[in-house]
Amino acid sequence: MEGYLDLYRRAENDPDAFWAEVAEREIHWFEKWSQVLDWKPPTARWFVGARTNVAYNCLDRHIATHRKNKVAILFEGEPGDQRFLTYQELHRLVVRFASVLKSRGYKAGDRAIVYMPMIPELPIAMLACARLGIIHSVVFGGFSAEALKARIQDLGATLVITADGGYRRGKEVKLKPAVDEALTECPSVRDVIVYKRTGSETIMQSGRDLWWHDLDQHATEDCPAVELDSEHPLYVLYTSGTTGKPKGILHTTGGYLTYITATMKWVFDLREEDTYWCSADIGWVTGHSYIVYGPLSAGATTVMYEGALDFPAFDRWWRVIEKYRINIFYTSPTAIRALIRQGDHWPDSHDLSSLRLLGSVGEPINPAAWEWYHRVIGKERCPIIDTWWQTETGGIMISPMPGAVAAKPGSGTLPMPGVIPDIVDLNGYEVGTDREGYLIIRRPWPSMARTIWGDPERFKEQYWTRVPGAYFTGDAARRDADGYFWILGRVDDVMNVSGHRLSTMEVESALVKHPAVAEAAVVGKPHEITGQAVCCFVTLKKGDWDHEKLGQDLRNWVAHEIGAFARPNEIRFTDALPKTRSGKIMRRLLREIVTNNTVAGDVTTLEDMSVVTKLASQHDED
Ligand code: WTA
Repeated sequence: MEGYLDLYRRAENDPDAFWAEVAEREIHWFEKWSQVLDWKPPTARWFVGARTNVAYNCLDRHIATHRKNKVAILFEGEPGDQRFLTYQELHRLVVRFASVLKSRGYKAGDRAIVYMPMIPELPIAMLACARLGIIHSVVFGGFSAEALKARIQDLGATLVITADGGYRRGKEVKLKPAVDEALTECPSVRDVIVYKRTGSETIMQSGRDLWWHDLDQHATEDCPAVELDSEHPLYVLYTSGTTGKPKGILHTTGGYLTYITATMKWVFDLREEDTYWCSADIGWVTGHSYIVYGPLSAGATTVMYEGALDFPAFDRWWRVIEKYRINIFYTSPTAIRALIRQGDHWPDSHDLSSLRLLGSVGEPINPAAWEWYHRVIGKERCPIIDTWWQTETGGIMISPMPGAVAAKPGSGTLPMPGVIPDIVDLNGYEVGTDREGYLIIRRPWPSMARTIWGDPERFKEQYWTRVPGAYFTGDAARRDADGYFWILGRVDDVMNVSGHRLSTMEVESALVKHPAVAEAAVVGKPHEITGQAVCCFVTLKKGDWDHEKLGQDLRNWVAHEIGAFARPNEIRFTDALPKTRSGKIMRRLLREIVTNNTVAGDVTTLEDMSVVTKLASQHDED
């Protein structure tokens, strides 16, 4: 604890000196900075004038050391195939692929969409882009063609990197057909590079689609990392906000790399011989920062598993941990709750004694899940780190440092050095101990989002105007007498389903595109496994509808528009939606209905809804 406090105070008292020291120690720079931070809210520039390269830091600098033949990526496919890519081999594959991109004319500042299964070629594609300064945007393989299209268009991508498909629950999940569907309306795209993972029949459009393995025939192993400006964009990752349109969160090079390398070591207590596994999908920020860039920059062995946690049975994860003697395991509360339900005999029949540290991310972990994780998986030996952060923060912001900060189940505990969080009311005044309020971050930190792609006004308005000069997280929290932070969930119209962010507006926009739907209102409903579930209230256009069939249709419709993970749990048909006098749908009221059942039973009749409507107009008065 003394060590943590000392570090924290140093960072607080002289942040520039602190971050300069961390950057110097953790990162290779081709050229040093003239200024640590240039901060004109909300525009931050970190390590001004410095030059570096993320791929160089993740690969080249390690192969000159004892890490040359250390496993960088340890991959297990769902069918059971394995690959052990050493730092040297990973470097070779990245350089070859980068040489292919370069020979096709792609260069720093171009944009590439990466839409792939969880196979090593996904990080290889990311690192090859980073090597050349091509800005990548990974789209989670579970997103539909529609969602993919919107991202390609918003980014103005000229290149798409994909695969024929991947494996999930014993079946092939095809990806290429979704790309074909999306590209009917994406004129900016020149090339589609397709990696052959499953070998199933794939239609290739001549003049546009290219096989990765064909291109590799002409690859070279001479493709040096480009010396990029510290503020060169590394990637754009789309996440849900409070409108129907996803936000392209932009992360840049030097500050991002510095922060995630440092937190990788602080939070995971990383040792040279560790085997580290984060079970997230690389399509989300957790995978970017703590499967790919953080672990590789820190020279760790990072595990990638392609498939589902229940395939072929509910002990797949415990098998993976036993087989590879995994030491550090990082997962989500949703997964933990799903596994609890299957019973202790699954983990109990495996040797999990290699585990030293357990982590949690993505949503609040309820005490029962924390306790099970601690007892049944960690055998009461392993500290649990509950890490709070966001796509926008780039890296972990609040988390115990194992060994230093004592945990309390359900609390993220204390901030990372250099992170100054506070809890405030609507006017920006600090609330007292044990009071609920808005979580803000008072000072800039190196891995903060720089902007929203193509929409700097929205960036300013959403994150930097509520409390002037401070970053508004959108989460509610309270701080206890020990200074520990307790995250209470979102204060905006963002749902958290299985640790995935989903905007209520995004689902509503999808629903109202359906020809039968007049209006839709969507809220998150508490769910015992997934944290929240998507619950939709829908009014229909005139017609003779079969509600049961239409309910199914609409669930599939949303899955088609956004992705299967967004498929609503419930569709409730109603004649009217509760609105304020100004016509705003009162989701707060609907949330109450789905949470507390304040209106008993089925809410599909006019009378029930009119009660709610009346209530709503009363609420509107105050
Ligand atoms: C929630 C995921 C409680 C929070 C890294 C945040 C959490 C949103 C925690 C960001 C945690 C994440 N405890 N809530 N440990 N971690 N959240 O952008 O509401 O996908 O705002 O980033 O997840 O989700 P995102």
